[in-house]
Amino acid sequence: MKICIIYHSETGNTRHVAQHLAAACGGKLIDITETATYTRLTRFLVWCKKARGEEKTTIEPASIDVSGYDQVIFGSPVWAFKPTPAIHAAIDAVKGCEGMRATAFCTHGGRPGQTAEVFQKWIETRGMKCVGNATIHQDDVENEKKTKELISILIKDSNPV
Ligand SMILES: Cc1cc2nc3c(=O)[nH]c(=O)nc-3n(C[C@H](O)[C@H](O)[C@H](O)COP(=O)(O)O)c2cc1C
Repeated sequence: MKICIIYHSETGNTRHVAQHLAAACGGKLIDITETATYTRLTRFLVWCKKARGEEKTTIEPASIDVSGYDQVIFGSPVWAFKPTPAIHAAIDAVKGCEGMRATAFCTHGGRPGQTAEVFQKWIETRGMKCVGNATIHQDDVENEKKTKELISILIKDSNPV
């Protein structure tokens, strides 16, 4: 089964989990970067405001073709209890995703809030089927047991949904 793992990570936690997932399923990793820049002083507030408003931002790559895959996994940090504007833009940027199964995960600092519900809404708005959602605390990204649990939620077999 071919899996595409699309993630955004500012400080490495989400990237770390994405790499564990790729090692478990041989999936292709796509690292989303935000092209907008902010001053160090204000960026925390700006990021929170944009995330809370479920905004999108400009990203690299700007378009992602997933038509050759059987499943997509999206990964994001939690910002202001929601997924980030960059992963929102990435979900919007996927091409060839209609009817495809998708799962999502977030890394967080203890309060994931509405992240799972918002992820599901964005995924289903693009015509994908959201078949799994998982959260992992930033302190657990190296925890083997938690990582295995996450993998079992996120990587679906090829049976029809
Ligand atoms: C702007 C900002 C907002 C955040 N908001 C939350 C939050 O609402 N709840 C939470 O549990 N963690 C929050 N965090 C912590 C991150 O979700 C957590 O550190 C995550 O693992 C970072 O992922 P990354 O290393 O892939 O960027 C926030 C971090 C930042 C930078």
